[in-house]
Amino acid sequence: MTRLNGKRILVTGGAGFIGSHLVELLLRTYPDVEVITLDKLTYAGTLDNLTAVMDDPRHRFVQGDVTRRADVEAVLEGVQWVFHLAAETHVDRSLYDPGRFLETDVWGTFEVLEAARRHGVEGFVHVSTDEVYGSVDEGWAHEAAPLEPSSPYSASKAAADRLAHAYAVTFGLPVLIVRPCNAYGPRQFPEKLIPFFIVRALRDQPLPLYGDGQNVRDWLYVEDLCQAIRVVAERGQFGTVYNVGARNLLPNIEVARRILAVLGKPESLIQRVPDRPGHDRRYAMDWDRLRRLGWWPTTDFDQGLRKTVEWYRAHPERWHALESDEASRHFYEQHYGPRLG
Ligand SMILES: NC(=O)c1ccc[n+]([C@@H]2O[C@H](COP(=O)([O-])OP(=O)(O)OC[C@H]3O[C@@H](n4cnc5c(N)ncnc54)[C@H](O)[C@@H]3O)[C@@H](O)[C@H]2O)c1
Repeated sequence: MTRLNGKRILVTGGAGFIGSHLVELLLRTYPDVEVITLDKLTYAGTLDNLTAVMDDPRHRFVQGDVTRRADVEAVLEGVQWVFHLAAETHVDRSLYDPGRFLETDVWGTFEVLEAARRHGVEGFVHVSTDEVYGSVDEGWAHEAAPLEPSSPYSASKAAADRLAHAYAVTFGLPVLIVRPCNAYGPRQFPEKLIPFFIVRALRDQPLPLYGDGQNVRDWLYVEDLCQAIRVVAERGQFGTVYNVGARNLLPNIEVARRILAVLGKPESLIQRVPDRPGHDRRYAMDWDRLRRLGWWPTTDFDQGLRKTVEWYRAHPERWHALESDEASRHFYEQHYGPRLG
């Protein structure tokens, strides 16, 4: 018997990028689970991400807002495990609308934790981020490293992360916290670096690269990340934080070059643009603790990138998400006119 077999599981933010892959993984791995997806369907979430599971009788989608107690309460009945992913997730947007990040990422997390406490769940996986450590200019951040978030996004995520920890310490809620590095793969909203560059390159448009392009991120294929989240739920020690990395550190300019190479497009498409304020230079984590649970990434970057590129090539309807969503178009035209070009 495992921790998740036969359980009723709530996934918040399950119509988003990582959440939708996690919902699929849970249903694929455990024939006897019931999964409820709670998602507000903001610009970043879409039911198209859940096509593979919408007809599965073990899955139920509920549209709702994690900041609204009634919405969370309505789905918690009988839930034994919670995977909390719902959040505002784009750093650039957090510079222009920080309040929304505080509301969703901090207050929303509070509401989900409170509901989980009221209902006495068996497990609560909080999905945090490596960005809570701030820029790690050298070496590798261990789970005990200080949190020094630099953007309203990462500061909100750090607050949520520590709130989840507080619920474990104070109320004995069985919390597990994961801090993943950058994820990439099919179905990511095309404002994030990799899908943004893929879509731009597919259209032969310039790839706007912030600053000198030397900002370093650790890149993990989304299915590997979801396996890591599942492994932590199954084998993690409650009350503990687990970093999730890939040991695949690359500067942004190298990511751009690899995308262009996969697509057979010229590097002259790379166009330097002024850097983003507060742009963290490097993220890097030590994830030995997770490795000791038996997890290891299985998709290498070039293989994952090819799969991702193929998915975007096969789904031209998703290229237009930025322009077709009114709020996104307004945001980008106002702040990054040249990026949409
Ligand atoms: N993508 C990454 O590289 C990465 C890395 C580390 C951590 N994370 C974390 O993983 C989680 C998922 O990230 P993602 O990339 O899938 O994000 P995403 O933006 O693709 O999806 C977020 C989902 O949350 C939903 N949502 C937003 N506000 C909501 C609200 N108030 N109530 C209910 N649902 C709401 C959206 O509709 C969307 O479906 C987030 O918590 C994020 O901080 C992401």
